[in-house]
Amino acid sequence: MKPKTDNQQPTTKTYSYGKQTIDDADIQSVVETLKSDWLTQGPTIQKFEQALNEKFGSKYGSAVANGTAGLHLIAMALGWKKDDIVITSPITFLASANCAVYVGATPDFADINELTYTIDPNELEWKLKQYSIRNRKVKAVVAVDYAGHPCDWDALRSLQNKYGFQLVNDYCHAPGAEYKNDLQYAAKYADAVNMSFHPVKHFTTGEGGAVLSNDESLDYRIKTLRSHGMTKDESILEKNDGPWYYEMHEVGFNYRITDFQCALGISQLKKIDRSILRRREIAKFYDELFGKDDRFIIPNVSEDYKHAYHLYPLQIKFDELNVSKKIFFSKMKEKNILLQVHYVPVHLQPFYKNNFGFKHGDFPIAEKFYERELSIPMYPALLNEDLGYITRSIIETLDKIK
Ligand SMILES: Cc1ncc(COP(=O)(O)O)c(C=O)c1O
Repeated sequence: MKPKTDNQQPTTKTYSYGKQTIDDADIQSVVETLKSDWLTQGPTIQKFEQALNEKFGSKYGSAVANGTAGLHLIAMALGWKKDDIVITSPITFLASANCAVYVGATPDFADINELTYTIDPNELEWKLKQYSIRNRKVKAVVAVDYAGHPCDWDALRSLQNKYGFQLVNDYCHAPGAEYKNDLQYAAKYADAVNMSFHPVKHFTTGEGGAVLSNDESLDYRIKTLRSHGMTKDESILEKNDGPWYYEMHEVGFNYRITDFQCALGISQLKKIDRSILRRREIAKFYDELFGKDDRFIIPNVSEDYKHAYHLYPLQIKFDELNVSKKIFFSKMKEKNILLQVHYVPVHLQPFYKNNFGFKHGDFPIAEKFYERELSIPMYPALLNEDLGYITRSIIETLDKIK
């Protein structure tokens, strides 16, 4: 057998940008719940919600079917209505903006900060001022802790105090991140915090999500709306026909999660600290290598912040190097490295252009970021030899394309 040379792939593995890790304890936890009396609407859901509150420092938590459902419920529970304006970042998953559209509100965007890739408070304030000149008030801001780097929450809070909007943290990328040495910052700053437990996230329930907050009445509305708007709360019933009796005061959905998904979530959540440490080790490896090559821009971490590295967004200066991102992407696929781009700017989606009049050039920093960004593999199961293969492949491919 020929010895393995440096640029050979360790095995015939395929590397995607993110991937779950499921161990025997996870499987055991799900099996136990499958054997119990409750597959859904049972006690494991509350246990998971309790575990989320303890870990992320919120007083209230509601687990839901997925992160998109969580955003929809937040929009409803915060009372967004037709013609309300909701501002988010153009560099996010569609759902951060779609949640405004679901309730008839008008989505808008503020450009990202060049260093943090999160919503830029200066751009946001400029937008808020434009609306205020036209006597329009912005109802809410959905700030996204993109890739796992927290937004500038102090700046967002002071804008909230000045302009009086509701503040939502789309926190799907950031569990485990720290803002000013605080892992439990999310519910302290935002009125509502949205999470997703999709398999590429830090911990998974298959599909799943949660809404965290410190607001009891908001949480009550989320819990009612996730289950058709049904209530048995005697204090608001119009009448009471008996113990079976329920009423519906507003229309809700079936956005419930199951007990066996929550069993997986409880078991997964126990491992988040270890998994974040490994993500940070991987990031350090990438930082050291790509940081000294001026063809790349590595993700910056602001002072007093700790990144959770859901993603490792690497920028390659394709424009200056005169290299096609499309060709680079395909060449990496030939090497079994399945990169992804996070994200196609939301305002450039045909739906947003056609319905709300956004166009190319509206958010230039986001658009330039999109041209350069590639999310390279970032998940705890990556071995050091995998990292060697991935980084060599990126650099060699870029060298050869020229
Ligand atoms: C920032 C952000 N918001 C919302 C969502 C939606 O979450 P889900 O896929 O669980 O519906 C995602 C999922 O990818 C996300 O990354």
